[in-house]
Amino acid sequence: MIFTVAIDGPAAAGKGTISRAVAERFGFAHLDTGLLYRAVGARVAAGAAPEAAAQALSPDDLGNAELRTLAAGQAASRVAAIPEVRAALVQFQRRFARREGGAVLDGRDIGTVICPEAEVKLYVTASPEVRAHRRWLELGGDADVVLAEVRERDARDMNRADAPLRPAPDAVILDTSDMTIAAAVERAAALVAARLSQSS
Ligand code: CDP
Repeated sequence: MIFTVAIDGPAAAGKGTISRAVAERFGFAHLDTGLLYRAVGARVAAGAAPEAAAQALSPDDLGNAELRTLAAGQAASRVAAIPEVRAALVQFQRRFARREGGAVLDGRDIGTVICPEAEVKLYVTASPEVRAHRRWLELGGDADVVLAEVRERDARDMNRADAPLRPAPDAVILDTSDMTIAAAVERAAALVAARLSQSS
């Protein structure tokens, strides 16, 4: 069975948690595509050229805990605006999306660019304040700085020319500002279950 769940949205909206839970519930593979950009950003920070860093990416690059930091998020969103970097990562993501057995991918452009044919598309969002608060609970630090970083990254991701962050026209919008993450997971799982029952 080929079945793709595309989950896009801005930083700290809850995409990761929802994606992992949906993948586990349905036995699908999961790819956090943000990690690819974070790993390229880290290689570039260490002196590599962006396009070469994207082409040379290997699974070993994705396990580093340092990739979760705010600085790594900023570095990722800078290299993510470079078309050659995005192009180098497309094929791997498309193959993953259409692998046998089902796949959940979360990112910024999964439903719009990587897999417009995805069976389920979700755009998970929340107010910048709620998202910054969640990121602060996760990483700590100065709450004002975290909010400023969230806003800066939103602006960069939404305004870039290549694959800007926006909902696909046929995406279901899930605003998690006033929702528990458990409720958001249930809503996402219900959409997947409904689509799966149509295809069987
Ligand atoms: O976890 P969080 O939502 O904060 O970020 P992430 O998903 O790890 O993504 C980090 C950065 O990578 C984003 O700010 C985007 O600039 C970029 N990204 C992208 O351009 N396209 C994707 N499919 C995934 C991430």
